[in-house]
Amino acid sequence: MKLIKEGFNQDNILSYGNMFLIGNGHIGYRGTLEEYKKDQMVGLNVVGLYDKYQDKWRESINMPNPFNVEVKSDNKSFFVFNNNLISHKFILDIDKGIFYRNTEFDSISIKSERFIPFIKQNVIFFKYKITAKEDINLNIKLGIDLDIYEINGPHFVSKEINNFKSKLSFVGKTNENKLVYENNNYIFSGKYGYLDGYYYVNKNLCKGESFTIYCFSQIREKEDEEILTFSKSSYNLYKNNHINDFKDKWDSARVEIIGNKKANFALNYSIYQLLILGSEYYNTSIPARGLSGQTYKGAIFWDTEIFMVPFFCLTNPKIAKRLIEYRKNTLDGAILKAKQLGYEGAFYAWESQENGIEACSKYNVTDPITNKPIRTYFDSKQIHISSDIIYALNNYLDVTEDYEIVDEKCLRMVKEVIKFFMSYAVNIDGIYHINDVIGPDEYHERIDDNAFTSYMVSYVCKVAIDLFNKFQYELKFVDEIKQFLNKLYLPPTGKDGIIEQFKGYNKLEEVSVDEVRSRLRHPKDYWGGANGVATPTKVIKQADVITLLVLLNEMFDNKTNKANFDYYYPFTEHGSSLSSSMYSIVASKIGYEKLAYEMFMKSAEIDLGTNQKMFAGGIYIGGTHPASNAGAYLSVIFGMAGLTFDNNNVLINPHLPKGIKGLKFKIVYRNKKYLIFINKDKKYVIKEI
Ligand code: IFM
Repeated sequence: MKLIKEGFNQDNILSYGNMFLIGNGHIGYRGTLEEYKKDQMVGLNVVGLYDKYQDKWRESINMPNPFNVEVKSDNKSFFVFNNNLISHKFILDIDKGIFYRNTEFDSISIKSERFIPFIKQNVIFFKYKITAKEDINLNIKLGIDLDIYEINGPHFVSKEINNFKSKLSFVGKTNENKLVYENNNYIFSGKYGYLDGYYYVNKNLCKGESFTIYCFSQIREKEDEEILTFSKSSYNLYKNNHINDFKDKWDSARVEIIGNKKANFALNYSIYQLLILGSEYYNTSIPARGLSGQTYKGAIFWDTEIFMVPFFCLTNPKIAKRLIEYRKNTLDGAILKAKQLGYEGAFYAWESQENGIEACSKYNVTDPITNKPIRTYFDSKQIHISSDIIYALNNYLDVTEDYEIVDEKCLRMVKEVIKFFMSYAVNIDGIYHINDVIGPDEYHERIDDNAFTSYMVSYVCKVAIDLFNKFQYELKFVDEIKQFLNKLYLPPTGKDGIIEQFKGYNKLEEVSVDEVRSRLRHPKDYWGGANGVATPTKVIKQADVITLLVLLNEMFDNKTNKANFDYYYPFTEHGSSLSSSMYSIVASKIGYEKLAYEMFMKSAEIDLGTNQKMFAGGIYIGGTHPASNAGAYLSVIFGMAGLTFDNNNVLINPHLPKGIKGLKFKIVYRNKKYLIFINKDKKYVIKEI
């Protein structure tokens, strides 16, 4: 399968940068062209590398661009921006994880390709070939571009480049005194000059003749890490291995939607976006914008545990395990956060970086009229994050039965999370309430008895009891949890089947999303918080009760699903890309197949469009949306296919929307691999393979 975009349009530079991203779970390289510079947002992102400049947000670092190329002849330059361009194609082979460009100018053509192998986690491979269409003399400048795009930089206080033959080594020192290295190895034929990080080559090419450059760029985070050397033949060797690795990954992850090519492509493209984020080798996690840039500070949110972990559990449990390990390893950051806020236990960072320290700022949005920052309470009130992590652990254990992950550290993580919730709860007349929180709907802040949060707390208490009993751990504490659980307030399901999103929600103004939109003073106004237009109304940012119904589906019947879907759907703005997949799953279950399809497509196509919102109040907020990509997968597997598990059995209950003639996919469940095929008459086969 290939994503191909023909032609060149300046307006699409940023969206194509995201759309044509390549990566290997550790390094990401945006879908940009070799002649692009800072303004076109070239980006080489490395998971786990962060830096803070002055009093700005601490964010992930964008490394220097190792492969910047300019080709000129006497009187013209061969840049896609110029009018000597004849045709251009961006190509992403999603089966192989390789990016290609194919550009025709009047007198030369340029073909390039790049990939990032899973096996050599810190190296990017580039190949660039110029072919003459007439006899021509070319001046080629190639090398490392140090002038890179940064949202809250500059992140390097010093940048040093050393050149030895055709090797360029960069060492940068960050504001936090960390040294980062980029070792670039360029292979090409002929004489060259060198100046300030660039090689200058003059080439006479006869018509039909080609000139090829190979570049291997290695990122090193420690001085003593071995510097790798490559030859021309390494390129093809690694490329073939890389293609095979991708083939293996696809073997478990591909989902075939039969009868609808558009949906099939969108879903598998979404899966591609997840495959390039999953690494089996590093104990880091996946940021909310993947490896596409510095948006959201390169931080890890609940997106990973609630959306991505379920995908990896079913397709590559080793990666799911790594994501859980990351939270075990960042427990100290969570304990520190709880302590700083006056609580016991572990309150995980809403925006977590390599050390688990809270990276979320107190002011996440700006008033577009006064330019004043607006206080948001995402950092201290979205307490559900701690429960999402234990939920993900339990999901992993349930799907894999790999109890090896449950070591002392893991049990401690669970214990500290429960301790946190116990200390956060308020005792009102002998009943514990989880008050003053923000649920998934971020517009309504500091609310009491949010159904999602309270149910998740109760669920993870049960998980803790089971786990502690199984491992005979802290049995005295188990009694305390039971007592807490007995008195924990859970918002009830009303006679009409509706669960009130939070205390007082039912009394809010009942208006449509459009009506609320029409009340904005400015198109960039923030809808929520203290003074937002949505705050006094029932309009919500994203699935909240509906997410609860998806996650804790065993607790709720289909009557409740339908009542809540009908009630909340008209009030949901889907202002977050995490919203529509949750609605899709519930829509499938209640027989709203058309809506299920629409909501699925909204999730699946999120990174395939060119009209995404890229800036908010001057701040770049673009990038890929892995939670939405994973949500698209979950919409098909748990919604349309209706996958459930019961006592070691894999069960299917299909709800195929019109036009979808079947589904075919594999899953890994408790160490066994299954092939599932559903046909258009909703007949299905589940085969162990
Ligand atoms: O985690 C989400 C949140 O639910 C809504 N705002 C964006 C975050 C990152 O994707």
